[in-house]
Amino acid sequence: MVPGDAEKSILISRIRQTDVAKRMPLGGAGLKDNEITNLVKWVQDGAYWPEVEVSADANKFFEDKIRPVIAFQCFNCHTTSQMGGLRLDSREGMLKGGKTGPAIVPGDPDKSLLITAVRRTNPALMMPKNGTSIPQDQIADLIKWVKEGAVWPEAQVSKYSMTPAQRDLWSIQSLRKTEPPKTKDAAWSQNGIDRFVAAKLETEGLKPAPIANRRALLRRATYDLTGLPPTYAEVAAYEVDKSPNAWERVIDRLQAYPRYGEKWARHWMDVVRYAEDDYDVSGKDRTEQYKFAYTYRD
Ligand code: HEC
Repeated sequence: MVPGDAEKSILISRIRQTDVAKRMPLGGAGLKDNEITNLVKWVQDGAYWPEVEVSADANKFFEDKIRPVIAFQCFNCHTTSQMGGLRLDSREGMLKGGKTGPAIVPGDPDKSLLITAVRRTNPALMMPKNGTSIPQDQIADLIKWVKEGAVWPEAQVSKYSMTPAQRDLWSIQSLRKTEPPKTKDAAWSQNGIDRFVAAKLETEGLKPAPIANRRALLRRATYDLTGLPPTYAEVAAYEVDKSPNAWERVIDRLQAYPRYGEKWARHWMDVVRYAEDDYDVSGKDRTEQYKFAYTYRD
């Protein structure tokens, strides 16, 4: 088709064809004269094809009800790792589908593999895999979403969205001042944090452990910060160091020690799933290895 030039458009010449063997629709009676005239006019006028108008409501429904659910329940296995050959982080990925076929058929939830998977009616395909069923109201939302055409908003304000439960996570709450609780034994606590500990011990009917001696204290701090025990010399030095800031200097020394950084780096290695082998061991869905992982080993 050449928008603006019906005569150069093969679509038009084929529907006008007088040779029945070449005329479109093939084997049919041919379009009516007025249908042909309309198509000619349409091509001549630039072949305007309106984009499907997506309502603000549909976008909001996706952002509020659909994206958080799939992000939370499915992205672990269906983005870059593409388990089952399937990516669920875009509409295209869903339409393309995985090994079995398209994951969604917009407008038809019953034909959509994604819906079958979350309904868990087929024992061979129950998602999230190895998990528990997602809540019924979320399944209902997914069904509604597919039924109404599986709208996936183009303009993304933010790539991330959070469920209300995720938004409640303690570590992302704004700071606010809290009064430490009152405790029966007022003498034991030396600061506000102690009072939280003391209050909990009291509600559980427990007594605080006795004050640690210097050797025990140094041992605990050293394990805590470096993962290793103190040396004999370090213990001996600390036991006789009666200066008022002896403890502060112990902590400064431990934090300046390379082992301190290594111990904390170790936790991050878990977070990035550090591994030199392929983390997907199933064999079928082999994913790319962490190419330079070995450079972090030592
Ligand atoms: C723990 C990993 C994991 C999670 C989480 C997960 N899946 Fe899967 N999914 C798989 C694996 C692995 C397969 C391949 C088939 C199998 O092993 O059952 C698969 C296959 C599928 C298939 C079939 C693909 C095809 O074409 O054969 C669909 C549809 C699907 N998952 C949908 C979902 C949906 C929707 C969610 C979220 C509600 C989800 N999955 C969450 C691991 C997961």
